[in-house]
Amino acid sequence: MRKVYRGRDIEVSFDLDICIHIGECLRGERNVFNLNRRPWALPDAGEADEVARVVELCPSGALLYQRLDGRPQEKPEGPTRMTPIRDGPLLVTGEVEVRREDGTVETLPRATLCRCGQSEHKPFCDNQHLAIKFRAPGAPFKIHLSPVRPVLDKPITKAEDPRGAA
Ligand code: SF4
Ligand code: FES
Repeated sequence: MRKVYRGRDIEVSFDLDICIHIGECLRGERNVFNLNRRPWALPDAGEADEVARVVELCPSGALLYQRLDGRPQEKPEGPTRMTPIRDGPLLVTGEVEVRREDGTVETLPRATLCRCGQSEHKPFCDNQHLAIKFRAPGAPFKIHLSPVRPVLDKPITKAEDPRGAA
């Protein structure tokens, strides 16, 4: 379920179900993305170009933005590319239309798709690969430890994630 955080110049939306807890958001723009505040995402607390830049670093597509100030919207990088992440999901960049198990379809500019077969939110990765210690070759991926990912090999649950209620 995607939540929308509306600002004056830019609107940010967030879908906790597909977040893979890499933490780019929390380290990127601390005034905008702040777990100690409700709402946790406040687009007007930063400059819209910077908010857009940080959102585009979110690999999973959990964070998206919509410019409200007439500036260009995010253009998916083309052509669509898939990169296996070492011991983890497939990283897709470029326009991708994803059909969820409930039949809803979302077009995303970025996505992380399950490669281990254990996700409960297929086709998206939900970090179950960590629980089964999935091992497969692929590109290394930088994970930033943060309150939503205190240790490398175990993200917090959706119920524990403060962004769920914010
Ligand atoms: S995938 Fe990473 S950057 Fe995107 S919302 Fe989740 S923690 Fe933030
Ligand atoms: S690759 Fe992450 S849950 Fe399957």
